[in-house]
Amino acid sequence: MRFVPDRDALTVAVIGFGYVGSCVAATLAEREVDVIGIDTDARLIEQLGARECRFSEHGLPEMLFAGMDSGHLRVSTDMAKVREADVVLITVGTPVRDDGSLADGQLRDAALELSNHLRPGQLVVLKSTVPPGTTRSLFGPLLETGGLVAGRDFGLAFSPERLAEGTALKELRSFPMVTSGLTPDCVASVGELWRRTLDVPVLAMDTLEEAEIVKLASNWWIDLNIAMGNELAKLCGLYGADVLDVIKATNSIPKGTGNVNILLPSVGVGGSCLTKDPWMVWRTADEHDTRIQTAAAGRQVNAGMPYYSASLIFHELAKLGKDPSTSTVAVLGLAFKNDTGDLRATPTRGVIETLVANGTTVRLHDPLTDQEAAADVFGMELESSVDDAVRGADCIAVLALHHDFLDIDFAALPVAEPCLLFDGRAYYTKDKIAELQAAGYIYRGIGRGDTAAVARPQRRIGQEKSEGTGYREAS
Ligand SMILES: NC(=O)c1ccc[n+]([C@@H]2O[C@H](COP(=O)([O-])OP(=O)(O)OC[C@H]3O[C@@H](n4cnc5c(N)ncnc54)[C@H](O)[C@@H]3O)[C@@H](O)[C@H]2O)c1
Repeated sequence: MRFVPDRDALTVAVIGFGYVGSCVAATLAEREVDVIGIDTDARLIEQLGARECRFSEHGLPEMLFAGMDSGHLRVSTDMAKVREADVVLITVGTPVRDDGSLADGQLRDAALELSNHLRPGQLVVLKSTVPPGTTRSLFGPLLETGGLVAGRDFGLAFSPERLAEGTALKELRSFPMVTSGLTPDCVASVGELWRRTLDVPVLAMDTLEEAEIVKLASNWWIDLNIAMGNELAKLCGLYGADVLDVIKATNSIPKGTGNVNILLPSVGVGGSCLTKDPWMVWRTADEHDTRIQTAAAGRQVNAGMPYYSASLIFHELAKLGKDPSTSTVAVLGLAFKNDTGDLRATPTRGVIETLVANGTTVRLHDPLTDQEAAADVFGMELESSVDDAVRGADCIAVLALHHDFLDIDFAALPVAEPCLLFDGRAYYTKDKIAELQAAGYIYRGIGRGDTAAVARPQRRIGQEKSEGTGYREAS
């Protein structure tokens, strides 16, 4: 039995209208699919009704509101509305606990509530990231508590969402969709869904678990690869080598089906996925008495980068004869990546807390982040302009290079002399660095410039924290 009806017009319910759910829903509505977005967060639904969008994704508000205006997209808190849908997508949050295990509350609640409203013939597709085995052993059985049988009465599929913030809408229109299902009919149905709606290539996996692992493998790879970029940067720093030049040359040879592809180092990895999915991998394997060391190693390296960055700033200030405890650092860009205001698990927090813990005066500026969000995460107010943030500063730390920062005339800024320019994610070109130096700045990036003083303290192999630097890490 196919679980996607033959008729042209499909109705899709999206349960969990957060960041992913709203991107998927807006994209489907743009393709003239009728979408019902359902979320338990009444305030979110109210805001959308008032044409306010809380998610920072370029083009998303316009697409959501166009969908709502055309009538293709409706939003509600009422789960009973799923009865109108042919297909139900689940995009609720799946965070992990401190021990790496799935905090399955949202998933359980959504599945149990949905089970009360499921009707025969519907296709339910889980898109949230989950440990292998979750669709078959947890999600499906919870849906069956309503009396219908998965694979017989309703279709059960897992098709992970692999979009990345900042490029999500483009990726939804182009990335291949990985699919899997409880039965061959479920697999065929979810493949048909994506071909008919998004018109993207479909990669059908043999089992639900394979598809669950595919999603985790991509984020495990990305996080680990960034960790290698970060440790390569530390190595380059010992020799005054420019890590960007080293990576560019290293990545120039083919290997496997592509090239060597070391990713860029930075102040750290943030966002809600890369910081948790590798732990999901580690924990799942651990429950089966199998040690997955690379997932944990990548996390540990990347989690240490904010502290490493703060240590770099302290050492460079000390080289300028400045005591960090009486210095002022202006942080430009607070989000976990460039050109977004998203502060979820942002590594800039670790840098700022370490600076503050060592007595440094810190001022913050980010045009993409609002005061309320900044107060929540950093417990500090934002400066409203670059000039206000950098006035008299001993260091400007560019921790996220937003578009608005591209035109800053550094030579004209009212900073102290000399002033350190710390590059946490700007990847300034050599021409730009020369320009900054000509304007009187001392430039330091991660793996760019002589960082030997930071790397020199004795450490045990595998130990991440910079013991012996004399600086306190924020607790
Ligand atoms: N954020 C990303 O970049 C990204 C990318 C790919 C995959 N993912 C995965 O997608 C999933 C969703 O992530 P997100 O970033 O959109 O999370 P989110 O926290 O932004 O959204 C989750 C939404 O689900 C709602 N919700 C919770 N319980 C509910 C219930 N019982 N019924 C209805 N709604 C409920 C919440 O109110 C919230 O609005 C996660 O599994 C995540 O790992 C995220």
